[in-house]
Amino acid sequence: MTALKKPVIAGNWKMYKTIAEARELAEAVARGWPQVKAATLILIPPFTAIQEVKKAVSGTEIRVGAQDVFWEEKGAFTGEISALQLREAGCDFVVIGHSERRQYFGESDETVRKKTQAALAHGLQPVVCIGESLAERENGQTLTRIKDQLERSVFSLTEADFSQVLLAYEPIWAIGTGRNATPQQAEEVQAFIRSLIKAKYGNKVADCAIILYGGSVKPSNALSLAREKDVDGFLVGGASLEADSFLAIAREALRADEGLK
Ligand code: PGA
Repeated sequence: MTALKKPVIAGNWKMYKTIAEARELAEAVARGWPQVKAATLILIPPFTAIQEVKKAVSGTEIRVGAQDVFWEEKGAFTGEISALQLREAGCDFVVIGHSERRQYFGESDETVRKKTQAALAHGLQPVVCIGESLAERENGQTLTRIKDQLERSVFSLTEADFSQVLLAYEPIWAIGTGRNATPQQAEEVQAFIRSLIKAKYGNKVADCAIILYGGSVKPSNALSLAREKDVDGFLVGGASLEADSFLAIAREALRADEGLK
């Protein structure tokens, strides 16, 4: 984390929460995070709850995101939602290429690229997820896989566009498993990601790039992960479903940023 940046803590609620439950959770997060400007909190509810969550956090610094987007602006694409529609509903961010979408819904680096471009064209900041499987890690292919994903999805963007992108390193074996990457494992990959950004877009873009870590982040491991130089915040799944644990993670990220770097 450099002085220019503030930590980003994003809560991916996945397919959890009814509208009423989402409102309750968003209100609880908002109560526990009054006007804190030193870190950016992003709530990422299911599509159905976006507007309600946006209302619940209005007047605070908390931002709202979506979990996916389609690349066309409008048309006969049953079941899809466009960047234009997400902006209208109150989103500033959108997660693209989450490993669950890659695994269950055929998301590829090519669709991630198209979705990222569409999001940017409508002023949505993409949170692009990349990460290796357990087999890839065990076969020593982690860094090659990461490089491939970046080259095929976001490295075709212009510098101005790339500067709007947040990356989330999420090793697939750490997602929802309770087994987080160690701070050293996360740092190794995230430093590698930053070095690739540097080679492609130069020092300034690389220094400003926000690279989140995701995969079994909890209050108990957040501080040690956040202390790593190239961990700029978190994409949190399970622990974002309760206000207390999500806020505790955010406070740990802030603590790492304020005192320890
Ligand atoms: P988890 O999920 O925190 O439950 O491991 C992370 C994610 O899927 O983004």
